[in-house]
Amino acid sequence: MNKITLKARGQQFEYSCASDVTPLRAARDQFIPIPTGCIRGGCGMCKVKVLDGDYEQEIIRSHDALSDEELANGFALACCMTAKSDLEIIAVEDYEKAQQESTETISGRN
Ligand code: FES
Repeated sequence: MNKITLKARGQQFEYSCASDVTPLRAARDQFIPIPTGCIRGGCGMCKVKVLDGDYEQEIIRSHDALSDEELANGFALACCMTAKSDLEIIAVEDYEKAQQESTETISGRN
């Protein structure tokens, strides 16, 4: 059983996830409000940035949902991945917001 730390919708959640279950399925089973859509790798609603930990991303996915470039840069689909260790993930909306805020903070200093 792995521990998943998820940042989503401005909050942080911690929950357990078996290694043969996707972080999305485990979150839903435990009533964690993870962004969800098709649950089949097609829509990208569940896209996360992996901040720490080991995981496997199933190859089955739409390139509209997750590009090769995103895959290479540590993004994954929570509905099509399995955790191979404890994982720290952040929903893509929260990640982009945090990136924007850090850019604004830096430019605000100049
Ligand atoms: S929920 Fe649609 S790609 Fe994961």
